[in-house]
Amino acid sequence: MSLAKVLEQPAVIPCTPPVTPTPTPPAISAFKYKFGDEGYLLDYHGTRVMYPMYESLPVVERFEADKKDICIVTFPKSGTHFMGAIVWMILHDGEPSSLLEGDVLDGKVPWLEYSMPGMKANMLPAHTMTGQEGPRVFFTHLGYNALPESIKTQAKVIYVARNPKDVIVSANYFFRALTFTGCSHTMEETIQSFKNNTCVYAPYFDHVAGYRRKVSDMTNLFFATYEEMVQNLENAVKGVAGFLGKQLTDAQIANIVRYCSHAEMKVNGVTSHIHLHKLGLMDFNIAPFMRKGIIGDWKEHFSPELNRQVDEWIEQEEDRVQHDLKGFRFQYEA
Ligand code: A3P
Repeated sequence: MSLAKVLEQPAVIPCTPPVTPTPTPPAISAFKYKFGDEGYLLDYHGTRVMYPMYESLPVVERFEADKKDICIVTFPKSGTHFMGAIVWMILHDGEPSSLLEGDVLDGKVPWLEYSMPGMKANMLPAHTMTGQEGPRVFFTHLGYNALPESIKTQAKVIYVARNPKDVIVSANYFFRALTFTGCSHTMEETIQSFKNNTCVYAPYFDHVAGYRRKVSDMTNLFFATYEEMVQNLENAVKGVAGFLGKQLTDAQIANIVRYCSHAEMKVNGVTSHIHLHKLGLMDFNIAPFMRKGIIGDWKEHFSPELNRQVDEWIEQEEDRVQHDLKGFRFQYEA
């Protein structure tokens, strides 16, 4: 879809208390650090959290989860919002209006460690969610060792993993499109950042393996993959609904499958993230948030030599965290 077409969509203004994003974003000059700067990443219990999100961590640490909470965890660009939309519709009995109307998806399903320069502590999602009527659904990119203890023990945790090659491609487009990061990475540089753990929320393999190793002893953890969701959305919806203990009719499941498809989420103003473009936080001319949504896009972007380097890295990393991956294999092609 052309940018002009996307812009025709109505701007969705958060109507419930604006958890995220801020209706008036800070000026780009207010962002202290840019991609690659010394202070851009903060090592927090083994996860390299990006600026300005890490400024929320003192508040995140005090967040108290309860049994009704649903926490979606991903490495960035692994299908966070895809899962967010699915969970949201499941909780709303597959009602289309739940995803077509009201607050933008990031308001319905806030980012636990979201922060913007100058944002007061009492405006951070980690604070505004406190005391909210459950079930609260939120997402985080924090690695297992960085996740607040009460989420691990109380909440229902859904982890979504995506193959690292497509994550790299998606991240390359996304961080270049985010205006406040100042990122102008080539694909090769993005690959390098994954290999040397200077990409946001690195290290990638520890992130996936950190949760994967918990599947057998954490009954409150559901491990899903982006590839399964793309290839068989109906099954994925049934799996997540079962985990959440929700009984849905066939018609309700059909609604979820329809409105959580990439094509629908791309034209739905609640899920398209067009507000980020309108607020100047993301440049959809570089890449829309709902970009391609496929398995294997890396083939369009990696030269044989780059692919060889990535394969080498994957092999080494899989070897390193083999014990924790517990036989899990990524899917690289549809
Ligand atoms: P691409 O950039 O490869 O297209 P996240 O929500 O973690 O930031 O992930 C964004 C990625 O998920 C983007 O990948 C986006 O297109 C894809 N995505 C979002 N919704 C999707 C859907 N309904 N079906 C398939 N992919 C989806």
